[in-house]
Amino acid sequence: MFSDALPLAERFASLLATDGVVRGLIGPREVPRLWERHLVNCALLGLGIPRDVTVADVGSGAGLPGLVLAIRRPDLRVTLVEPLLRRTTFLTEAVEQLALANVEVVRDRAEALHGHLSFDVVASRAVAPLDRLARWCLPLVAPGGRMLAMKGSSAADEVAQFAGVIHRLGGRGVTVERYGAHLAERVEGAPITVVEIAVPATSGRA
Ligand SMILES: C[S@@+](CC[C@H](N)C(=O)[O-])C[C@H]1O[C@@H](n2cnc3c(N)ncnc32)[C@H](O)[C@@H]1O
Repeated sequence: MFSDALPLAERFASLLATDGVVRGLIGPREVPRLWERHLVNCALLGLGIPRDVTVADVGSGAGLPGLVLAIRRPDLRVTLVEPLLRRTTFLTEAVEQLALANVEVVRDRAEALHGHLSFDVVASRAVAPLDRLARWCLPLVAPGGRMLAMKGSSAADEVAQFAGVIHRLGGRGVTVERYGAHLAERVEGAPITVVEIAVPATSGRA
């Protein structure tokens, strides 16, 4: 799953299990299941991201999925967006300790960045219901880019419920995808469920 990046992923896992727990970013009960619930799960999101693009992780928390993507995919330029100081302090220290040259940490709410920053892919995991998430994330997606929201079993219901909001925000071609279904028998943590929302290259956004 991590191939050459495994040693770096192991160092990040150990940071999460130590500093991450002490600082309250990860619950102690998560430690025995860090790999399948967090690292593998977040690395699988990379299956939906093309090479050499810019990625924002909105509501990054302890760097999930953004830091995992940056470790696994050095071709990506990843921006971790997180409003809480305690969390951005952890993220900045992790980026330094892991010597990741492809990560920037931005301490702000996603909506404060509208009109200032945009990305080819705007990713998130466990941040908000899909309508609120679309309001925060879609204005950050560059024309021709995509929003990728990691969701649980509620994904299809949320898509059905919030289709109108997403359309008004300029989101098109909304689908619910399973990434890593082919690995399910071999890899704990696979597959994951992702809501994909495209923003057309010539956007009809309000
Ligand atoms: C439940 S945590 C999830 C963290 C991480 N994505 C994960 O999967 O472990 C939600 C995160 O979203 C952040 N958040 C809340 N509102 C936000 C906003 N408007 N813009 C960006 N991040 C936000 C919170 O500070 C928190 O770190």
